[in-house]
Amino acid sequence: MHIDTTLLIIDSLKILFLIVIIGLFVVFLWDVFQKEHSILRNYPLIGHFRYILESLGVYLRQYFYAGDREELPFNREQRSWVYRAAKDADTMIGFGSTRDLTPLGTIFFVDAPFPVLGSDISKTTPVTVGPFCRLPFTTNTLFNISGMSYGSISKNAVLALAHGAKMAGCWLNTGEGGVSPYHLEAGCDLVAQLGTAKYGFCDEKGNLSDERLKLMANYPQIKMFEIKLSQGAKPGKGGILPGVKVTPEIASIRNIAPYKDSISPNRHTDISNVKELLDVVEHIREVTGKPTGFKTVLGSYEWLDDLCLEIIKRGKEKAPDFITLDGSEGGTGAAPLSLVDYMGLPIAESLPVLVDTLVEYGLRERIKVIASGKLVMPADVAWALCVGADFVVSARGFAFALGCIQALRCHTNHCPTGITSHAWRYQRGLDPTIKAVRVANYVKNMVYETRVIAHSCGVEVPRDLNRKHARMVTENGLSVSLAELYPERVPGIKLR
Ligand SMILES: Cc1cc2nc3c(=O)[nH]c(=O)nc-3n(C[C@H](O)[C@H](O)[C@H](O)COP(=O)(O)O)c2cc1C
Repeated sequence: MHIDTTLLIIDSLKILFLIVIIGLFVVFLWDVFQKEHSILRNYPLIGHFRYILESLGVYLRQYFYAGDREELPFNREQRSWVYRAAKDADTMIGFGSTRDLTPLGTIFFVDAPFPVLGSDISKTTPVTVGPFCRLPFTTNTLFNISGMSYGSISKNAVLALAHGAKMAGCWLNTGEGGVSPYHLEAGCDLVAQLGTAKYGFCDEKGNLSDERLKLMANYPQIKMFEIKLSQGAKPGKGGILPGVKVTPEIASIRNIAPYKDSISPNRHTDISNVKELLDVVEHIREVTGKPTGFKTVLGSYEWLDDLCLEIIKRGKEKAPDFITLDGSEGGTGAAPLSLVDYMGLPIAESLPVLVDTLVEYGLRERIKVIASGKLVMPADVAWALCVGADFVVSARGFAFALGCIQALRCHTNHCPTGITSHAWRYQRGLDPTIKAVRVANYVKNMVYETRVIAHSCGVEVPRDLNRKHARMVTENGLSVSLAELYPERVPGIKLR
């Protein structure tokens, strides 16, 4: 019996060996005779190692070779801070900073000789968006969840973000895929986004539907409406959801065909200039009664003058209630490399321009500014507040809170953490209940540490930070105050 089993195993191994040899021989023949890949044709069999190693390279570098501050889009230092904050683990470090403080553009904050005592502070700083609406939105939040559509991210990811937002008291932007039941179920504050295809807001003919707008406005959770003109990663290109991710449920929410690429137009068909933009803002606000604004990236920024002049002509109450400014470093579910790498201005350059232009037209108080673009750490949020943002939003910061490992596969439906995959095999790893707590922890620790920076700068609350509180390293190696780099504008100067 024992000998029989051994012989059986040896026979099986022989057969297996034979199969492997035959398999390799078939691959060898295929390599030699195929014409598409020169490396494989010239180096049959071993040429495959090049492709295997190339695809594994990204992981090998991430785990073994890349330094803590080396990788892009986010380095290990940034990712680990978010992971620790999300797990409510200790975010302290020992010995000293590993940050190189010399490169051009490095930001420092200006500490006060006598910081504000953390224990003294109980002040909140509520901000009201849309004071002229029937239903203005007043909130204390500083840091919120930026749009990632249901489609680009999975059901479990949406659920975790929505429940996490509810626990943290921040808002969740729906992204351009329409409002799904998973956005609504947690009861968190929502910003409903209308992308260029206006998914979820159209009638059968594809036109903006007042009926749909009213239906959405009836949900008390939906606090604001955002028209997406563009996003940082791909200005001038509409949303792209590869067919493999268009499940029947997502297709029905978007009112499109399942398993076919969902490509939004590269701009709103009814918005081709600032007048039409203001018309649509006004229309949505009138129909819904809720604050309405738009999201954009700045490239050329002269059009902001046209926008402000048109607002002044129509009256301040006709202004967009907010502008979400996304930097060109922003993330995406899927976009062409040429746009991701080359299009638009980074937030560091565009945020001061937007804030200053609004000041110059006397519109700064009226139009709230929401900033995004790799603002995932407390220092990033503090910087944006110093420059003049009212709120900061992040998409990928929250992806890290959900466990994203930066595999860069959002467009493939093979996200290993189930955040951007609809396949059950991947999604089962993302438990919405546990991850919701991580989302809430991330917001809590972000706000806490931003407050720590504010206190060190000598102000009571983060929203009291201003340009005098930050400095930037310039060409001669010395730092200059942001107040000097972007001098204070005289309010309303362009109206005189
Ligand atoms: C997976 C994914 C999906 C996104 N989907 C949308 C979207 O539907 N609408 C939108 O305006 N922006 C979308 N964005 C862009 C983000 O909302 C945000 O503007 C950008 O990523 C900058 O923030 P971050 O650097 O913190 O990620 C998406 C980003 C990611 C990573």
